[in-house]
Amino acid sequence: LKREAKVTVRPGKREDAGQISALSRQLGYPSSIKDTRKRLDRIGRDREHAFYVAELPEEKIVGWVHVYASKLVVADSLAQLGGLVIDQRFRSMGIGRMLLEKAESWARTNQCSVMIVRSNVVREDAHDFYEYLGYRHMKTQHTFRKSLSADSAQT
Ligand SMILES: CC(C)(COP(=O)(O)OP(=O)(O)OC[C@H]1O[C@@H](n2cnc3c(N)ncnc32)[C@H](O)[C@@H]1OP(=O)(O)O)[C@@H](O)C(=O)NCCC(=O)NCCS
Repeated sequence: LKREAKVTVRPGKREDAGQISALSRQLGYPSSIKDTRKRLDRIGRDREHAFYVAELPEEKIVGWVHVYASKLVVADSLAQLGGLVIDQRFRSMGIGRMLLEKAESWARTNQCSVMIVRSNVVREDAHDFYEYLGYRHMKTQHTFRKSLSADSAQT
């Protein structure tokens, strides 16, 4: 029996915020449980977004994926990956693939014909994972950022 057989994928809930925020830290985006819960609430109310967790028996969450649809003038609706992370102790067991396929099937049923993934150039392992699962490197972009908070010293 493959270990992934014990994994179930289900929509993430606000009660999962603690485990989800611990995984966000592994992705390199530390967030408090309170902020995570607030964002999960907003995402949960938005039909253009979906958020799933991969769970082992006894409610242990070992990964999450966020996918959303973007409406554009210059192209049909695109699905974009907002984030994907698997607990480092549970990688290379097929769980990332399960969550990515779940995101793709949500995108298909929500009239998106393409999935776009943006991944930092330093995440070489993740790039191999996406290519293995049928994604092709399309273009390289610069990312610009401007803080919109009142205190412009904060970025
Ligand atoms: C990238 C990540 C999501 C992959 O999840 P995972 O559960 O480890 O991957 P899986 O076990 O589902 O891999 C699926 C397939 O891709 C292949 N694969 C995974 N990583 C690979 C790599 N670095 N090189 C080549 N193939 C790879 C696996 O061999 C597997 O193939 P198989 O199903 O035929 O055995 C996970 O490693 C992770 O969370 N990394 C840190 C965070 C991150 O970089 N997230 C992406 C941000 S854009």
